[in-house]
Amino acid sequence: MKVRIQVWRQKNDKSPGAFQTYQTPDLNPNMSFLEMLDVVNEELAGRGEEPIAFDHDCREGICGTCSLVINGKPHGPNKGVATCQTYMRSFQDGDTIVVEPFRARPFPLVKDLVVDRKSFDKIIQAGGFISVRTGSAPDANSTPVPKDDSDLAMDAAQCIGCGACVAACKNASAMLFVSAKVSHLGLLPQGQPERDRRVQAMVSTMDEQGFGNCTVTGSCEAVCPKEISLDFIARMNRDYAFTLIKGETRRAKVSEGAG
Ligand code: FES
Repeated sequence: MKVRIQVWRQKNDKSPGAFQTYQTPDLNPNMSFLEMLDVVNEELAGRGEEPIAFDHDCREGICGTCSLVINGKPHGPNKGVATCQTYMRSFQDGDTIVVEPFRARPFPLVKDLVVDRKSFDKIIQAGGFISVRTGSAPDANSTPVPKDDSDLAMDAAQCIGCGACVAACKNASAMLFVSAKVSHLGLLPQGQPERDRRVQAMVSTMDEQGFGNCTVTGSCEAVCPKEISLDFIARMNRDYAFTLIKGETRRAKVSEGAG
């Protein structure tokens, strides 16, 4: 099969960008989308042209770096699948495929299809740790966790932090990502000591980084390659509200004592 790709090319965040069209050579339909870009890049390099810059690492749906918008959809046409696990057989011979970077103010463009998602690292750094000793695997297993909680924590832990939720959201909200990270540790006994501090720190860092609010459109859940549920956003909002109420109650008790 052969396809035409219209790719966003941009030298850096200061220079203007534009779509450029490339015709691929004959492709094996079982080739991944990133392998197709590799083939195009080999041709470009062979002609002395600048290859297309795009992010990738594991190519196994784990690292979350393959952040492309394909035909208007983060990670392309298939539900619950990352770009790196999207195969050319998902398209028709002769198709024109539009490839763009994730677009959101907190993800500034670096080059072509590469954006800077440091804002996500800052959110993780703000709250993503626990202080209790978990020891090695057998010690960790000695802490009983109810099956429902461990299943739910596993669902949340599937988030690969790719940012598709932000790219799909009209408000550039990061709430699906943050809620998955907050819930993952908040559901486990080991995550309890910092639970209040964690949700407050992660939510405020999310706001500081310029992500918008959730208006429950659900586009994040629809494009998430790991199918993280919107329910985690409700869980995070509850956790956040409880920490505020607890803070108010503590302040009221202190002032009562003072009186
Ligand atoms: S390259 Fe790692 S998730 Fe796609």
